[in-house]
Amino acid sequence: MSAAHQEESPPVPDLSTLPPDFLWGVATSAYQIEGAVRADGRTPSIWDTFCQVPGAIDNGDTGEVACDHYRRWPQDVALMRRLGVDAYRFSVAWPRVLPEGTGRVNPAGLDFYDRLVDALLAAGIRPFVTLYHWDLPQALQERGGWPERATAEAFADYAAVVAGRLGDRVADWTTVNEPLCVAWIGHLEGRMAPGERDLTRAVRASHHVLLGHGLATRAIRAAAVRPAAVGAVLNLSPCEPASDRPEDVAAARRMDGHVNRWWLDPLHGRGYPADMVATYGVEPPVRGDDLAVIATPTDFLGVNYYFRQVVADDPTGPPPYARQVPVPGSVCTAMGWEAYPAGLEQLLVAVSEEYAPARLVVTESGSAWHDEIAADGTVADRERTDHLERHLAACVAAVDRGVPLGGYFAWSLLDNFEWAYGYDKRFGLVHVDYSTQRRTVKASGLRYAELIRAHQRLAGSSDAVEVSR
Ligand code: FCB
Repeated sequence: MSAAHQEESPPVPDLSTLPPDFLWGVATSAYQIEGAVRADGRTPSIWDTFCQVPGAIDNGDTGEVACDHYRRWPQDVALMRRLGVDAYRFSVAWPRVLPEGTGRVNPAGLDFYDRLVDALLAAGIRPFVTLYHWDLPQALQERGGWPERATAEAFADYAAVVAGRLGDRVADWTTVNEPLCVAWIGHLEGRMAPGERDLTRAVRASHHVLLGHGLATRAIRAAAVRPAAVGAVLNLSPCEPASDRPEDVAAARRMDGHVNRWWLDPLHGRGYPADMVATYGVEPPVRGDDLAVIATPTDFLGVNYYFRQVVADDPTGPPPYARQVPVPGSVCTAMGWEAYPAGLEQLLVAVSEEYAPARLVVTESGSAWHDEIAADGTVADRERTDHLERHLAACVAAVDRGVPLGGYFAWSLLDNFEWAYGYDKRFGLVHVDYSTQRRTVKASGLRYAELIRAHQRLAGSSDAVEVSR
């Protein structure tokens, strides 16, 4: 340990109780960073299509170029190395690998991820591969998309293709990212691709995304050469009533059903919550042993956490007839999301107590702010740094309360295409100047690197490295 290290101020939060093998990661997703939407045989995804709908995306932005990661990936791997992360969660673009969604495999598409995985491993970074981060091949949407059972089956075939190619080197897999967004935001609220507003199709989509997860879990294990750790990724929110009026208390319970239990219950062998089936008035299209497939044991549960929900009754609104209300006096990020780190501890403890997953991993946590590059080229993103530290402290608190938490992935490595909000919302630890594609590590990124080093020293690892902007 150098003198400089000894003089460093002690890390806030105190990381000393985190397990030595706690994984420090960063996360991204294919459509949000890759660009190159027509390169090497890739066909359109539902997000390419959705971006063409007038008014769907702020400023008319699209993922056409994004962070140009498809071409600049070596630089991005080098950035991760500078940050000193242990792991990188990224997603594979289905339409690069299977341009028609099923059938013909496009080797050039797989080659890209093959090279990326090799480079990560060479840099000492563990790849966490997500198979579905929302970019369904448009060809499958034209055959009905997630409301159709065939899409879940196609997803398993695609998972087998990817695991067959990368599974000799990749040990960590996440199947579907945030089924809530796929089903509810994409098919009920219409704010994300494919932009539908149909409760029956949304419920059908929810079942097929979960079924796809179960089928893919089995397919990955069958196809991967080395033992594969597999999990789903859910975005969860603690839900609290806005008042003690019985209507609000019941509304918070419905919101909890909509956001959390609808996914957690079937994944853990409990089937769909009956109160929510009654609320929707739509039965999910369960056949045969679907529920057993969905509840296939996994190795970990990925949790994405952004905000809690304080909920009021909303009898005339859309299902679940409950709405999130603002919390007076709260600090909100540029997304308008309340910064509430205590919710992460609460959530991790609650999920661990209620469902006892083998291991939990925070697969995303982060915040958007109005960043500015100073004249000297630095980005002093104090709010993001504070947000990061507080959420890490919440992880430590959860670990101290017995939660088997295996790691934390900051969302995101880079500023990127934030879906319907376009490029205005910046979540990166690294700033991206979209006119030049220049990357600049923000103060939050430097702080993250410092915390990683501090933990590595506590854990006695010798590979702690210094980072400069
Ligand atoms: C999550 C998504 C991720 C990113 C963050 C801000 O819901 O998984 O792609 O957009 O929100």
